Amino acid sequence: NRRVAKLAAHLQPQIRRDPTAAHKAGFTVAVLGAAGGIGQPLSLLLKRCPLVADLRLYDVVPLAAGVAADVSHVNSRADTRGFHGPSQLPLALEGCDLVVIPAGVPRKPGMTRDDLFNINAGIVRDLVAACAKTCPNAVLNVISNPVNSTVPIAAEVLKDAGVYDPRRLMGVTHLDVMRARTFVSRSKGGDPNTIDIPVVGGHAGVTILPLLSQTRPFPKGGFTAEEARALTHRIQNGGTEVVDAKAGAGSATLSMAAAAAEFAHSVLRGLNGERNVLEHAFVESRLVPGCAFFASKVRLGRVGVEKVLGLGKLSDAEAAGLKALTPELSASIRKGFDFARASI
Ligand code: NAD
Ligand code: LMR
Repeated sequence: NRRVAKLAAHLQPQIRRDPTAAHKAGFTVAVLGAAGGIGQPLSLLLKRCPLVADLRLYDVVPLAAGVAADVSHVNSRADTRGFHGPSQLPLALEGCDLVVIPAGVPRKPGMTRDDLFNINAGIVRDLVAACAKTCPNAVLNVISNPVNSTVPIAAEVLKDAGVYDPRRLMGVTHLDVMRARTFVSRSKGGDPNTIDIPVVGGHAGVTILPLLSQTRPFPKGGFTAEEARALTHRIQNGGTEVVDAKAGAGSATLSMAAAAAEFAHSVLRGLNGERNVLEHAFVESRLVPGCAFFASKVRLGRVGVEKVLGLGKLSDAEAAGLKALTPELSASIRKGFDFARASI
């Protein structure tokens, strides 16, 4: 026995060094809205995620089956199946560790994200109710807009079902972070893959607040006030840039799929026990009075959001931006709460 223990001790460091060791676990992941503009490329990217063992692709339209057949031919470990229509939703959700929700209508030029509320609020409410019933322990990643309201709706539905754990509910704001990395590195230099720029607040217009003063590595010469203003404006309006360029055919789908897949991968890394996984997400928060939900840097772990990290030191312009966004974000959160309380 001593020889076995010695051998085990000898092997231990090698096991720890094994780069594939972190990829041993396999998770069950569902995409709700999988036949859509985001859902299809997201499903493809998740099929290639080494931490996904079982991929469930659900949509209200029958195309979900075709998307699943197509994606399933990609050679990776994830078993991939399609589900369509409310009767198959429980089958899609059974045993899920993570549910990603891009179901709902996208914007057309001239619309705000809040204009989507009337249709998407009910879609998110009903899908989250199904999650509460069938996979109450799953982490939920909400993409459907307006995120500032759909996440509070999801929270109320989960509370009503008695299964709410704020650590497992996240609004996906990672596209804002990707845009900040792209636009800042293009204009000021730096590697878009590794540059770190916090983007906090919410996910609509002025509620999207990039903290350029905390850019790491900080660009040589810093940002002039005009550069900071222009970059902030572009990051806040990145979604509208795509909506206008698509001229009525939808909003960001490909960049969003990339963002959602990267974020989902980080969530799974956390669930898998990896330490110090840091991302930004719109989560229940006490950082800003009046905003029960707020996007900020979070540490992901085995339970979902392990810790909501602080905002750090803001520049004067960022502090003004925070003050300006609070009433709008607070009203959007309240609108979500009110809708849910009146309709569940
Ligand atoms: P889309 O219309 O191309 O696809 C939406 C899909 O949802 C469709 O396949 C539709 O059949 C499906 N769907 C509708 N109701 C459903 C239900 N009850 N159950 C399951 N599936 C249902 O739209 P899209 O471009 O993929 O955008 C989807 C949503 O994501 C929009 O609300 C959009 O505003 C939002 N979005 C969010 C972000 C973000 O950063 N969080 C970025 C881009 C888009
Ligand atoms: C985005 O930021 O691209 C999304 O929220 C979609 C939109 O309506 O802008």
